[in-house]
Amino acid sequence: MKNVNYLLLLLVLLNSCAKEEDKKTTCDTTSVTYSSTIRSILNDNCMNCHNSGSALGGVVLETHAQVAAYSTSLNDVFYVSLTTATGAKKMPQGGSLTNCDIEKVKTWIEAGAPNN
Ligand code: HEC
Repeated sequence: MKNVNYLLLLLVLLNSCAKEEDKKTTCDTTSVTYSSTIRSILNDNCMNCHNSGSALGGVVLETHAQVAAYSTSLNDVFYVSLTTATGAKKMPQGGSLTNCDIEKVKTWIEAGAPNN
């Protein structure tokens, strides 16, 4: 009987591990919006260097219009620079976005970079 309990415990543990894995590999891009998704990615990763007080490279990413100006196509620096592995123009400079954040940016750009 004791062994059965251990077996059950092991199964429960294994099952919860599997769920953790799912969370890591699933990227939900179904409800990407500028205001809730893109804005927070930018705030967390880009605003130190791209605000009106400190506009490195002359780039300010504070308003939707400013961001959209860099997002008109997937070939634009806004997306290409995020996915290029190396190079001076890879953004964020000195770091990188998670694959999921890149997917979300891509989804938003493909939708026409809407102000939603
Ligand atoms: C640590 C500072 C820093 C951070 C953080 C940063 N950037 Fe930059 N960014 C720069 C600098 C410096 C340049 C100018 C690079 C150049 O001209 O070679 C630049 C240039 C750019 C450009 C113009 C590139 C071009 O080819 O004209 C875009 C677009 C850009 N950044 C977007 C972003 C985005 C999006 C993020 C966040 C995901 C980000 N940056 C985060 C420093 C930063």
